[in-house]
Amino acid sequence: MLSSLPQSLHPNLPLTALAPMQDVTNLKFMKVIAHYGSPDYFFTEYFRVNETSRLNPKILASITENDTGRPVFAQMIGESIPDLVRTAKELCGYNIAGVDLNMGCPAPRIYRKQAGGGLLLVPEKVDRILAELRQAVNDRPLSVKMRLGFENSDTFFPILDIINRHSIDLLSLHGRTVKDRYQGRVNYDLIAQAVRHLNCPVLANGNIYSAAQALSVLSQTGAAGVMVGRWAIGNPWIFHQIRQALLCETITPPPLSEVRNYIDCLCQTPEAINIPERARVGYFKLFLNYIAPSVDTEGHFLRLMRQAQTEVELFNLCVDAKQLVVRHRFLLSDSTQTLALAPYYGI
Ligand SMILES: Cc1cc2nc3c(=O)[nH]c(=O)nc-3n(C[C@H](O)[C@H](O)[C@H](O)COP(=O)(O)O)c2cc1C
Repeated sequence: MLSSLPQSLHPNLPLTALAPMQDVTNLKFMKVIAHYGSPDYFFTEYFRVNETSRLNPKILASITENDTGRPVFAQMIGESIPDLVRTAKELCGYNIAGVDLNMGCPAPRIYRKQAGGGLLLVPEKVDRILAELRQAVNDRPLSVKMRLGFENSDTFFPILDIINRHSIDLLSLHGRTVKDRYQGRVNYDLIAQAVRHLNCPVLANGNIYSAAQALSVLSQTGAAGVMVGRWAIGNPWIFHQIRQALLCETITPPPLSEVRNYIDCLCQTPEAINIPERARVGYFKLFLNYIAPSVDTEGHFLRLMRQAQTEVELFNLCVDAKQLVVRHRFLLSDSTQTLALAPYYGI
């Protein structure tokens, strides 16, 4: 039976979704994003599925304790069909928007087991998994997140046919191969071909770094919506800005003082509390790497952030702007400076 997707925020506008990102898109981050402007849909980090797996309670909290008001798709990754089926059924007992299957993860320890991106090499296994999952979730939405292929697009159209055959409800398509990982050109043309080939809506994904770029990708691909990952870390206002752009409204860039509040929120994440300082600095830099490219044209903030070795250095740079050396003082302390609507670097 074909199921229907949860209602979007604005039925007449294309869909928006926050891309699942391991160690990032937890409950806290979803709440922070919702504060600045929710996407239509959230996706959890992946639940790792194997013979002994149980639902990870931290990931589960992003469903059960989610008070953003937006639907959450529960993503699974795994190679064992009976365990994927067991987990999908279990997830259907919770308030989820649907079950999502990861067919794109580029980590070798995952793809070598024919899970994640490794599934793109074995269409016949994809066929079996989707047949079983379609039955397991019954009339709940079943979605897939995938890439164009493993190292080329040889299996792309056969897999799209399989997706059609099993009445998948939504496809999130990252326009790169597994071997491309996260770099290089995104092939929006193949996303456009998928849009034309499939019976289900497609979310275009990959390098959507601004509202203007979202509109450009929507027009290039004809996709039903966009999924944004890393640049939502860099600009949590992006979903609101995309809606403004779609409605032809003027987008007001947020002042850097607001960006400082956002960074402050990220620093309070419980994930960071129980890890050693070095790891904590690395964890914060994961976020700052995507914020910094939109802060100043000369890249001062990006450079200073990358140089910081200790938490105090990083904290002083981000939170207590008065402690910055005078010539960089403007960075995050001046409410007349704004966060650029598109990053200056790193696209
Ligand atoms: C830190 C990080 C973690 C990710 N974790 C997941 C994941 O758990 N599941 C998934 O399907 N994709 C994951 N991805 C891929 C993203 O969902 C997305 O497809 C990719 O980053 C491209 O989109 P972007 O250019 O908007 O970031 C991850 C990406 C990053 C950068």
